[in-house]
Amino acid sequence: MNHMKVAVLGFGVVGSGTVEVLDKNSDKISNNAGQDIQVKRILDIREFPNSIYKDLFAKDFEEIINDNEISLVVETIGGIGIAYEYTRRCLESGKSVVTSNKELVATHGYELLKLAEEKGVSYLFEASVGGGIPIIRPMTQCVAANQITEIYGILNGTTNYILTEMGKNGVDFSLALEDAQKKGYAEADPTADIDGHDACRKICILSSLAFGRQVNWESVPTEGISTVTINDLRFADDLGCKIKLLVRARIVGDKISVYVAPHLVSHENLLSGIDGVMNGVVIRGNMVGDLLFYGAGAGKMPTASAIVADIIDVAKHENSPKQHKWEKGDTGNMTDSTQLESAWYIRTDADRRTIANEFGEVIFAQELGSQTAFKTVNMSGRKVRDILGRGIPALSLFRVLGDY
Ligand code: HSE
Repeated sequence: MNHMKVAVLGFGVVGSGTVEVLDKNSDKISNNAGQDIQVKRILDIREFPNSIYKDLFAKDFEEIINDNEISLVVETIGGIGIAYEYTRRCLESGKSVVTSNKELVATHGYELLKLAEEKGVSYLFEASVGGGIPIIRPMTQCVAANQITEIYGILNGTTNYILTEMGKNGVDFSLALEDAQKKGYAEADPTADIDGHDACRKICILSSLAFGRQVNWESVPTEGISTVTINDLRFADDLGCKIKLLVRARIVGDKISVYVAPHLVSHENLLSGIDGVMNGVVIRGNMVGDLLFYGAGAGKMPTASAIVADIIDVAKHENSPKQHKWEKGDTGNMTDSTQLESAWYIRTDADRRTIANEFGEVIFAQELGSQTAFKTVNMSGRKVRDILGRGIPALSLFRVLGDY
C-alpha cells in the first residue's frame, strides 16, 4: 500500500486530536483512503517532551515546506497571521492543505481557493464550520442539484453551551464560559465566540459556497450574546421560547442577506432542542426542501474527525484533486438586514399601557420585578427601532425566529 506523508501545523486542541484520530483509526482510515496516512512532522514552537509523538516535532516550517515527501499539510494554527503565510506557501509549492481555520477561510478563501486551483491541489475546510458535523461536503455534493435559498441555525458551540447552562441551571455567564474553555470549545480569545464573530465567519463560509461569491465578514451585521441576561431566558421561556445565537443567510430578490444575532426560538422549533455544545444548521434547497444537520459543533475529537475526512478525500483524489470555488466578494449584492420583517422580543421597564399604545397588539410575558418583556407582531428592524425611539427604553431587543 502507498503512504501519504502529512505534516500537522499546530499541536493544540484540534492538531493533537487529528494526530490521535489518524493513529487510533488508522486501519479504517487507510481502507477508506486507499493508502496509509503517515504523520511525518508536527510543527509547534512549544516543547512536548512526554508526547508519544516527540520524535516528529519540528520548530522550523522550512523543514516541512522543503520536504518533497510531504504532500499534504494540516493547518490548525488558527488566525490569519502565520497560518495565512504558511498556507499560501504550501499551496504554492504544490502541497494540499486541510484546515479547521474558519477565520482564514472566511477572510482569504477566494484567493486561497484560486491558488489551489492554479496549482492543481486541494484546499479543504470541512472542520471550519460546525465542528464534527458534515456540512460542506453535503452542501457541495449531496445538495449540488439545488439552488440554496436559505441557511440558518446555530454555528457556535461555546455560546450555545453558555446559553444552555444559564437557561437550564441558572449558571453565571462567566462560570459557563470558563467551563466551555476547559472543555476545549472556546477560541483562544473567547470574545470571538461571545461577540458572534466566530459564528459570523462560519456563515460567511457557507454563504460563499452556497451563493458562489465571497461574503466578507466585515459586511455582515453581527451581535453576540453578551446582552442576554438570565431574566431574558426566563421571559423567553414564559413566551414558549429559548434564546439561541443564530446565523441567517438568505436570498432576497437578487441580493443576499446575512446576519448573526440572538433570537427567540419557539419550543416547537427543532433548533430550540439543540443544547450544550451541539450545533444545528438548516439548508433550504429549492428542490430538496429543508435539511437539518446536527452534531457536536466544537471539541477536540469531533473537529479532528472532520479534518481527517478531508485528509481521506485528498488521499483518494490525488490525481483529480477536490476543489471548492467561489468568486470575489461584492458588497453590492448584499442587502440591508434591517429591512427584513420578523416579530421582536423586547425587555423594558416601560409600563404595559405605554407599550400597548405604541406597539398595538403584543404578547406579554409574566413580569419580573419592575421589568416586563413582550413579543411584537411582524415588523422591520427599522420600524421597531423607530417605535422604541418614541420613549420605550429597550433593555434587550431580539428577533423572534418565524415559522418555518
Ligand atoms: N469556538 C468554536 C465554537 C469552536 O465554540 O463553536 C468550533 O469552531
